[in-house]
Amino acid sequence: MATTNPEPARRGADDQDRRLRVVVLHGPNLNLLGQREPGIYGAETLDRINQRVTALGRQLDPPITVHTFQSNHEGEIVDAIQQFGGTSDGIIINPAAFTHYSIAVRDALAAVAKPTVEVHLSNVHAREEFRHRSVTAPVVTGQVVGLGSVGYELALRFLAGHLAPKDDA
Ligand code: DQA
Repeated sequence: MATTNPEPARRGADDQDRRLRVVVLHGPNLNLLGQREPGIYGAETLDRINQRVTALGRQLDPPITVHTFQSNHEGEIVDAIQQFGGTSDGIIINPAAFTHYSIAVRDALAAVAKPTVEVHLSNVHAREEFRHRSVTAPVVTGQVVGLGSVGYELALRFLAGHLAPKDDA
């Protein structure tokens, strides 16, 4: 049986297509990192965190293309989960205050159903009782809580292993 194989001519494009993509989503007030309650959230700015996690993505094997997004608006976070989450292999999200009450964010994560890591800079369990509950936790793969900004890097390393094509051998 004759078969045609368009692979060689398209290899460059396919290699690009095969690159893993992860979107890192930050919820409300995380744009203020660096100035916002630094005793709780640290001195690092969101730009710096995004740069570090993006650079780590390039170093991983296979490399991961990281896209970052922050919004103070619930609907924009829902849109970003649908749009960027839908076209990504995995999601890292710090839903910030939305963690504790946003059924819309939870439903969006459940709808796109991608491997997802929820990150919190602070140890929410050691803080006010209203922060102990996460409505998003039941629909994510796992959480990294209380380890500061390194939590985003740990989340990306987890996704790299989780998403990497497995050798059958
Ligand atoms: C947070 C914890 C939330 O309770 C809080 O509303 C945030 C940040 C964290 O990263 O520790 O804004 O998600």
